[in-house]
Amino acid sequence: MSTSVLAPTKRPKIKTALPGPKGKEIVEADAKFVNPSYPRPSFKLVAERGSGVWVEDVDGNIFLDCNAGVAVCSTGHCHPEVVKAIQQQAEQLIHMCGTDYYYRHMPQLAEKLDALVPVKSPTRTHFANSGTEAVETALKLAMYATGREKFIGFFNSFHGRTLGSLSLTSSKAAQRRGFKRQALDVVHVPYPNEFRNPFSAADCGDGGAGQGALNWIEERLFKTTTPPEEVAAIVVEAIQGEGGYVPAPKGFLNGLRRICDEHGILLIVDEVQSGMGRTGKMFACEHYDVQADIVTIAKGIGSGLPIGACVARADVMNWKPGAHASTFGGNPVCIAAALKTIELLEGGLVQNAAEVGAYLKEGLEKLQQKHDSIVDVRGMGMMIGVEFETAELRDRIEVACFERGLIILGAGASTIRWSPPLILTKENADVALEIFDEAIAASV
Ligand SMILES: Cc1ncc(COP(=O)(O)O)c(C=O)c1O
Repeated sequence: MSTSVLAPTKRPKIKTALPGPKGKEIVEADAKFVNPSYPRPSFKLVAERGSGVWVEDVDGNIFLDCNAGVAVCSTGHCHPEVVKAIQQQAEQLIHMCGTDYYYRHMPQLAEKLDALVPVKSPTRTHFANSGTEAVETALKLAMYATGREKFIGFFNSFHGRTLGSLSLTSSKAAQRRGFKRQALDVVHVPYPNEFRNPFSAADCGDGGAGQGALNWIEERLFKTTTPPEEVAAIVVEAIQGEGGYVPAPKGFLNGLRRICDEHGILLIVDEVQSGMGRTGKMFACEHYDVQADIVTIAKGIGSGLPIGACVARADVMNWKPGAHASTFGGNPVCIAAALKTIELLEGGLVQNAAEVGAYLKEGLEKLQQKHDSIVDVRGMGMMIGVEFETAELRDRIEVACFERGLIILGAGASTIRWSPPLILTKENADVALEIFDEAIAASV
């Protein structure tokens, strides 16, 4: 197999059955030796290499990637400047364990994040290796800083699969089944999904779903099972990711901020999927003009290298040595990738996510006019959800797109998420929309 980068292309090229013969072998070996609990979709992509928005499989088929390795490859696959930053760093220092020793990269990225995050400066950053670890950090920190142990989370949220974050995660029963009682004392509130408002008119008053959720917390939880003075933190996604790309309604996060301020509760906003430019602003919180006490970051920050971060108000992240640390977290190679990623995001990709994202959303809204099976199009920047009538139809469309060379992935009950690399062009978007249109027509 050649190792050169992918030749430039304008369209996907599918030349074998999917997966092809080499792909099949790998899928078979995987089934034999690899953890079977990975939630793989009904199509099987066996990737060999990627470049920009394009991915080539082991059989030489070329796909247009509008999922970016689940919202991770923000700068596109193997962005040459990110590759160079990784290579240069790997030649100099790969690992030193930043929780025992020092190197320049940690304060450099932490200072950069201090300037970017929707948390009042001064902040401090803990470096992790993944989203779930960033969330674990936030949960431990909230308990430590407040001396409280209850949490409020939201149904359909996804915060990770380790035992602490799993106590919050509530997007699918399969994620919970078999793991007995939750490790942490978390109570869940329906998420204020404006398209499928879970609250009654009486709950909402004249404030819509967002008000319904706020009232639920203040009028039900606080007055029954969950006294506010026992709550360490409210944990929320500004835009629910795995739950189906559902943006928080206007005013909701600000309402949570007020509730937290009134009761000494910390507001943790999980921006693992929505952060790092994906929504057309560096963080989704900026669309709502709200500041968190703690923010969690992963996915898009490292262009594919495993890095997560938990950034908190400095007075909150004031715990004692030994309370929390990580051998690999904040590894110099991952930080080099993150610093380069942020440079590229600030240098135009956040702007591109806003502009081309709006163009893509407009195109999807036009398809909604054409196809009755699309019941909702929502989202911001390059975090767009397209909800279909049924889960079965959504799954068929996902496969039909794949067969035509477009990678998209489901989220929530019956939604397709669009989370392309933030380098997507209007020309790429046109190709993707054309394939999506065809795939829907062939699947209904
Ligand atoms: C909002 C959010 N939080 C946390 C996580 C967990 O991240 P990881 O899979 O890196 O542990 C995810 C992953 O999808 C996520 O979307």
